[in-house]
Amino acid sequence: MDRRLEEIKTVLKKYGQEHLLNQYENLDDVHKKMLLDQIESIDFELMQSLYQSTKKENKHGEDKITPMDYLDKYKLNEKYKYYENIGKKAIRAGKLAAVTMAGGQGTRLGHDGPKGTFDIGLDSHKSLFELLCDNLKEESKKYDVTIPWFIMTSKENNKETIAFFEKHKYFGYQKDKNIFFFEQGEIPMMDTEGKILIGEDGLVKQAANGHGGIYEALVKSGMIDKMKHLGIEWVFIGGVDNCLVKMVDPVLMGIAIDKQVTVACKSVVKANPHEKVGVFCRRNGKPNVIEYSEITDEMAESTDENGELLYGESHILCNLFSVSAIERMGEAPLPYHLAYKKAKYIDKNGNLVVPDSPNAYKFEAFLFDAFGTVDKMAVLRVKREEEFAPVKNSDDANVDCPRTARQLYKKFYHLD
Ligand code: UTP
Repeated sequence: MDRRLEEIKTVLKKYGQEHLLNQYENLDDVHKKMLLDQIESIDFELMQSLYQSTKKENKHGEDKITPMDYLDKYKLNEKYKYYENIGKKAIRAGKLAAVTMAGGQGTRLGHDGPKGTFDIGLDSHKSLFELLCDNLKEESKKYDVTIPWFIMTSKENNKETIAFFEKHKYFGYQKDKNIFFFEQGEIPMMDTEGKILIGEDGLVKQAANGHGGIYEALVKSGMIDKMKHLGIEWVFIGGVDNCLVKMVDPVLMGIAIDKQVTVACKSVVKANPHEKVGVFCRRNGKPNVIEYSEITDEMAESTDENGELLYGESHILCNLFSVSAIERMGEAPLPYHLAYKKAKYIDKNGNLVVPDSPNAYKFEAFLFDAFGTVDKMAVLRVKREEEFAPVKNSDDANVDCPRTARQLYKKFYHLD
């Protein structure tokens, strides 16, 4: 142990992170080992370069952004049936799996527990997880298959998520056979001086590494192997917080298969040119998503010859991937984006700091940054009222909140 500890101290000194051992002597043996394991797993070079990136201007300014072409699901005419039949055949043959990303912290919603356990206030009081499961059950019945459901959790919410499924008897969707949980990766949080934070437990304070962690997590956890074993070729990946998400869409799948693309994404048209959403684009020729903060007013308002917004296709985290595309995406590291968040931590004097405003950097990879690894990608515009009812904020915000999601859900399912 002493030798290991000495080696770790040398590394920490090199990177100016010696304080990570401040609580070491106060920990029991199990936690001592955990801390050392954690420190050994940190990529300090990466952390150093991430800290340096917090000092730089937004580098995206030099990228060449151009519009991305798309298909409108309701303007496909006779092609609609054609694609639908191709997709239906593949779904019936058991080639589709669904993945729900449920590793986020849901800070804006402020719900005490994993976001998927949130009750949006329907008369049934079903949680987001159950609403999603209802959709899978309904579709499975339609195609006479059972669509395997893979759920990504974080270290922070994994136990609570599984306990919730246990409590609700997996909503009748058969544990072990059809539902599989896997954890996403984490990355340390940092203060504004570039010091990695120590959490209340005396261990390194880590946070989930963003929804872009999905590819690596699917590969590392062995879920991709499981999918292959099950004969899965296509994987729908969506968020946990869209209660109208349609995970099984034969038209989307038919398009992907027919056009031989490995990624096919759904979009909804922006509610207005300045809606705060990311939109599909090409970045330096490659498929990508541009954040609302990156787009100029002129770009946001520009239209094509039909009066359609050139940058109007919002990314709604409804994306279909071939299994092989996920494997490839899992190999290449994605860039990290910076978020400034509130984080409790133990300071160098051993005191617990409880901030009331953001005080720490959190680093997140975005799923859509991997789109650039493919040349060909399909985007399918669907109807917002049919497929997009996100629960992001608390009701105070009055937008993308439980109240708006509930209204949209009830309208779609004629529950009023
Ligand atoms: P958001 O980016 O909206 O984040 O996630 P969030 O964690 O739900 O909420 P805020 O930003 O803290 O308020 C979109 C989807 O991606 C998942 C979320 O669970 C949600 O389904 N996600 C996000 C992950 O699975 N892991 C992450 O690290 C981040």
